[in-house]
Amino acid sequence: MTHPPGLRLARVLTRRGVVQDTAWHRALLAVDRRAFIPPTVWVPDPEHPGWDRPITRDDPDYRRWADDDYALVTQVDDGRPAGADGRGLLPTSSISQPSLVVAMLQALDVRDGMRVLEIGTGTGYNAALLCARLGDANVVSVEIDPAVAAGAAKNLAAAGFAPRLVVGDGAREVGGPFDRVIATVAARRIPPAWITQTAPGGVIVTPWGPGTTSAALLRLTAAGDGGAGGRLIGDAAFMWLRDQRRAPSRWPEHVDAGDPAAIAGPVAVNPRVVTDRDPGWGVVLGHLVPDLAVGPEEAPEDDPASAGEATVYLFDRAGSWALAEYVPSGGPFEALRCGPRDLWGEVAAARAVWEEAGRPGRDRLGLTVTSSGEHRLWVDAPDRVLSPRT
Ligand SMILES: C[S@@+](CC[C@H](N)C(=O)[O-])C[C@H]1O[C@@H](n2cnc3c(N)ncnc32)[C@H](O)[C@@H]1O
Repeated sequence: MTHPPGLRLARVLTRRGVVQDTAWHRALLAVDRRAFIPPTVWVPDPEHPGWDRPITRDDPDYRRWADDDYALVTQVDDGRPAGADGRGLLPTSSISQPSLVVAMLQALDVRDGMRVLEIGTGTGYNAALLCARLGDANVVSVEIDPAVAAGAAKNLAAAGFAPRLVVGDGAREVGGPFDRVIATVAARRIPPAWITQTAPGGVIVTPWGPGTTSAALLRLTAAGDGGAGGRLIGDAAFMWLRDQRRAPSRWPEHVDAGDPAAIAGPVAVNPRVVTDRDPGWGVVLGHLVPDLAVGPEEAPEDDPASAGEATVYLFDRAGSWALAEYVPSGGPFEALRCGPRDLWGEVAAARAVWEEAGRPGRDRLGLTVTSSGEHRLWVDAPDRVLSPRT
């Protein structure tokens, strides 16, 4: 008797307690993930921090990465690697981490016969799982990159699956109504089409992040009036929708401390709050201080006089920047700011809102997207909206 194609990975994930739904267990068994992994993938390059290096099937690392619970980058820099020797700067397509794939599919809460729209076909692996669970006729998947889409079409056909594949921008309407929408690409703002294509009461599962990371998994229920609401239900670091990406940039490109228009003054908050890793705070900060980028610089280690000190830079890429000098002896901390926005003032106000709400963790946060597209972040219940202080 031959083994089911997905047995090896299904074993890894059931042993780790990830698979709780027997129907998804059967779907996992039915699909060989390895067949969806292209011959070249990119992994972090230890010799060039920030860059990914290509590895091919004959590289001993390939198997190690491909056979376990890892995401693998399958395209960099939109198919034109920016570095020497095929090294890539920006991951632009990947096959997602299997445990996250299963968590997202389980969160989708599908029943037999439901119609599902996937945004971000990538390699086609997730679409294959959806087909194995719901049948080809109930699955539509959209991919913006034509080369990636062509690879997925080939992989899916070879594995015996035939969902409807659309090459185009998944932030636009492709049909519907769908009972479920799953995005395997992250949104800073939820595209209205995802909501309007979802049947009333239908569910949308997507990585969402208003700030610098896409670390939250969001589960929305469509209200039927063009709006939707729901809670943050876990971690989900993903690449961004193509038109919601931000080019990587560092503070020296935005900050000119010698600018005569810069205004000096004290800052009303410990500058290190912008590096507080509490996931609830990260979401609140990102939502209340839009477009914020952060660049802390620690004082050099070889200067005992400045031990523990840091300069914390903020910028918004639109002409506003600020810096603050952190010293471990305590505040008030000295700041310099320039441009129309008072970024430290906005950060301090956001911190106050978060603290007054009882420092909610991410599991207490939810989002309402109104029919006009407004995004309202709330704590515990939709009527407890966290608004910026004016
Ligand atoms: C993390 S990968 C998806 C993984 C995929 N579901 C799989 O099983 O391999 C994200 C994909 O979303 C695609 N993408 C980005 N922006 C998009 C958009 N606006 N519409 C459709 N696809 C998009 C990227 O090109 C990339 O292939």
